[in-house]
Amino acid sequence: MTNDRNIVITGFMGTGKSTIGRLVAERLQRPYLDTDAEIVSRVGMSIPEIFARQGEAGFRHIERRMCRFLASQGGYVISTGGGMLVDEGNRDVMLASGFVVCLTASPEVIAKRLLGDPEDRPLLQGDWRGLLEKRRPAYESIPVQIDTSTRTPDEIAEEIVSLWQAASV
Ligand code: S3P
Repeated sequence: MTNDRNIVITGFMGTGKSTIGRLVAERLQRPYLDTDAEIVSRVGMSIPEIFARQGEAGFRHIERRMCRFLASQGGYVISTGGGMLVDEGNRDVMLASGFVVCLTASPEVIAKRLLGDPEDRPLLQGDWRGLLEKRRPAYESIPVQIDTSTRTPDEIAEEIVSLWQAASV
């Protein structure tokens, strides 16, 4: 594996992708990119607005294009939206081009972390625990898994950097 591959951090909502992604980027002095923030800035609408106007299918379409674009770039630390790599095509593209880490957390921990901002995440309005179960096989198919339930973001960022360095030699 060469060193300029993207480091891609994925996992369900509330697993710590953005917090940990930023820390990894700082440690490696790499540019950081959050796919949701990138979509919002390019489309000029918030995520709830995109869902309201174009439906989830519209959002997934934009997300797929973003995924392919980012896979063609190198050198970033990327945090994905929680659903991006549930799509098998997106997952294959990122696994083939980057170092992908899937973060996990127990439903109890996820519930606590997400309590603050449910209105930012359209899919939290529904049965998100059911969604987590449905997506589990897709997340579990990613080879590198880290449970964030009981450890600090700093500890996890450190582990990702070590794994990345080990995979890069
Ligand atoms: C989604 C997760 C969100 C965002 C959108 C859909 C999902 O990102 O992409 O609301 O399908 O799990 P976060 O995981 O950063 O909340």
